[in-house]
Amino acid sequence: MRTTLSVIKADIGSLAGHHIAPPQLLDVAKQELTRAKKEGLIEDFYVTNCGDDLELIMTHTKGEGNQEIHTLAWETFRKAADVAKELGLYGAGQDLLSDAFSGNLRGMGPGFAEIEFEERPAEPVVVFMADKTEPGAFNLPIFRIFADPFNTAGLVIAPTLHRGFTFEILDVMEGKVVELDTPEEMYDLLALIGTPGRYVIRRVYTREEPRDVAAALSTTRLNLIAGKYVGKDDPVAIVRAQSKFPALGEILEPFAFPHLVAGWMRGSHHGPLMPVSEKDAKPSRFDGPPRVIALGFNIKNAKLIGPSDLFADVAFERARALANEIADYLRRHGPFMPHRLGAEEMEYTTLPQVLEKLKDRFRTVEGA
Ligand code: 13P
Ligand code: 13P
Ligand code: MG
Ligand code: MG
Repeated sequence: MRTTLSVIKADIGSLAGHHIAPPQLLDVAKQELTRAKKEGLIEDFYVTNCGDDLELIMTHTKGEGNQEIHTLAWETFRKAADVAKELGLYGAGQDLLSDAFSGNLRGMGPGFAEIEFEERPAEPVVVFMADKTEPGAFNLPIFRIFADPFNTAGLVIAPTLHRGFTFEILDVMEGKVVELDTPEEMYDLLALIGTPGRYVIRRVYTREEPRDVAAALSTTRLNLIAGKYVGKDDPVAIVRAQSKFPALGEILEPFAFPHLVAGWMRGSHHGPLMPVSEKDAKPSRFDGPPRVIALGFNIKNAKLIGPSDLFADVAFERARALANEIADYLRRHGPFMPHRLGAEEMEYTTLPQVLEKLKDRFRTVEGA
C-alpha cells in the first residue's frame, strides 16, 4: 500500500511574543483535520507545535505535492490565522505570504516535508520539528545519521545499510540540486553542507536497490526565492527508521550534541540546538535557545500509531544542560559575532542606515 506522510507547518501567530502557538490555534487545526479525516481526504493526523510554529502531521494516499492536501493545510492555516487575529496574537498570519493560493504551498510561506512510500510491515518514522533556526540546522545531524560510522553503527555492521546513502543537496542561492553518494563522496558532501546557510540537505535515498526515500526535509521557501536572502524558515524533517534505514537510536544520537545553528533572536544569532520534549518546546530565553522536538510514530494502513515524545528522555538531559551552558557563554558576546550572524545573513540590520549617517564622517587615512 502506498502511503504519504505530509508534515506541513507555518507560524501563524504566537502568544506574548514569538515563543508559543497557543492551544486555541491547535484547536482550530484539530477541528479542520478531524473534518478532513471524516470526509476521507486524509487517513489520520496529529497536530502539535514547536515554539511558535504550528505543525500538521498527516497521512493520506494522494502522493506528494497533492493539491487537495496542500489546500487543506492552507485553509487550516488561514482559519487559524483568523483566530490569531481575533485574539491579537503576535505575528498573526506571519508565514502566509500570499493571498493568491493556487493549490501548491511552494513559495507560499508554509514549509513542508513529504514522503510517499510502500508501507513495510512495520513502518517506524521520526518527525523532527525545530524553532528559531533554519533548514540547514539539520545538515549536521542528518549527515551523522546517514554517513557517519561513529554515529551509525549500522553503516559498518548491518548488511542493509553498508552500501551507504545518497544525499540531495539544494544550493539556496542558485536554486539547483546535486546528488552525492556516501561514503565515496563524503568529503565533497561535507565541503558543501558545512555552509548550512547556502547548501541544505533536502532528501536522502538508500543506495541499496530498490532506491527508497530515507529522509525528507523542508526547504520549500528557500528553494523558490533563489539568489537572495529570504530569512530563516523554522524547519521540519521526516526520517524513516529500522531495517534498511538507521535504527531509532542512531537517528536520535546526533542530537545529544547541541550544535550551533543560526536563527536565534530576530533570526540573527547563533545558538545551540536544544533537544526537548513537546511541553518544553517554548523558547523564551532571548527567544531561544533554538529548540528541536522529535516524535516517533509507526504507520499502519496509513494510520498514525503513537506518537512517542522522543526527547522526553533523561538521556538527553546532559545535552540540554550543555546547551544552557553554551547559551550563557554565547550571550555574553552580546552584539558581537560569532554570536550575532554575519551581515549578509541577518534578518534585521541597521548597518546601511548607520553607514549612510556616518558617510561624511569617514575620513581617508594614509598608510592604513
Ligand atoms: P532489537 O534487538 O530490540 O530489535 O533491537 C535492534 C536494534 O536495532 C537496536 O538498535
Ligand atoms: P520565528 O521565526 O520563530 O517567528 O522567530 C522570530 C524571531 O526572530 C524571534 O526572535
Ligand atoms: Mg514567530
Ligand atoms: Mg518559529
